[in-house]
Amino acid sequence: MSADTPMESPFLAACRRQSVPYTPVWLMRQAGRYQPEYRALRARLGFLELCRSPETAAEVTVMAVEQLGVDAAIVFADILLMLEPLGVGLAFERGDGPVIQRPVRSGRDIDRLAPFDPRALDHVYETVRRAVRALAVPVIGFAGAPFTLASYLIEGGSSHDWARTRGFLYADPGAWAGLMERLVPAIAAYLNAQIDAGAAAVQLFDSWVGCVPPAAYRTHVLPHVRSLIGALRPGIPVIHFGTGTAGMLEAMRAAGGDVIGLDWRVDLDAAWARLGEGVAVMGNLDPAVLLGPIAEIRRQAANILDQAGGRPGHIFNLGHGILPQTPVAHVRALVDAVHELSARS
Ligand code: CP3
Repeated sequence: MSADTPMESPFLAACRRQSVPYTPVWLMRQAGRYQPEYRALRARLGFLELCRSPETAAEVTVMAVEQLGVDAAIVFADILLMLEPLGVGLAFERGDGPVIQRPVRSGRDIDRLAPFDPRALDHVYETVRRAVRALAVPVIGFAGAPFTLASYLIEGGSSHDWARTRGFLYADPGAWAGLMERLVPAIAAYLNAQIDAGAAAVQLFDSWVGCVPPAAYRTHVLPHVRSLIGALRPGIPVIHFGTGTAGMLEAMRAAGGDVIGLDWRVDLDAAWARLGEGVAVMGNLDPAVLLGPIAEIRRQAANILDQAGGRPGHIFNLGHGILPQTPVAHVRALVDAVHELSARS
């Protein structure tokens, strides 16, 4: 851990299930298109260009923390940056989302992937270093989990049903395992390099893993996530997040992580009861609540805080990222509400 990361941060204390003066809060996609300043920046800079400029990416990371008063920063980057050094071709086309130009559709395609060199992402580590220097709150590093990264590689971009990915896993489980075994050490090296640059915690985004049945998760995903988490620097909290995971929470817990990130489709108290008291939880306000009036935002935040019941080990967040059409004032109102309503006297 870097010398200027505060040890006493409520966010890190909550990750470790220690008591805190108030519930720490940060928000997925706290830096992004809902901010007019971000949209102005993007009018003159492509998304990948922005990610590759440590100075600008750190500025975006820091700006969100300063505007919102959140208890943690997340480095401005993307889970897909890691795929580029594998030689598959990555582009973000305006309005269309990400494109992988040479998708992985067979065992032979897997053999053609370039060996992952973590130095190809030196710019991300430099963004982490700059954000850590500029901020008093901890900086979270992140990566895509093996399933979610594989889903982009196989589909060639985003998908509504991830049918090719699910088909691949059943049709050629050996090639699937081979792909997981390529991704796991690469993701571990990438996350460890972010930790070495000063990230005080890391988040694993398994955004789309909820599209497979729990049994397939246990067979084809869990062992790989477990070996990935086991390869990370000890002592640094790991947040393990997924969406659509109501059917596999126990299995996600078994795969590992100090904190389990919940989406909004489960009740936080019921999910925590299933996970057990030995793990922290993060979540889980529906991002669409932020589109409604501030009085309703406060009511919904209070409901989640009630479910957590002041137990150590709750980090407030949304159940997924902030929607681009969200008013900035509503995001700020949520952060204030969480701090105010959770203050322990
Ligand atoms: O503030 C933050 O959360 C930090 C930055 C961050 C981004 N992406 C920036 C981004 C983080 C943590 C991510 C993670 C990410 N990227 C995930 C996991 C989280 C999730 O949403 O499930 C995924 C699946 C991606 C892949 C990705 N990146 C897609 C599918 C897209 C296009 C669709 C979309 O949401 O825009 C992106 C682009 C992206 N990543 C943007 C931002 C701010 C928007 C790009 C733009 O400015 O046009």
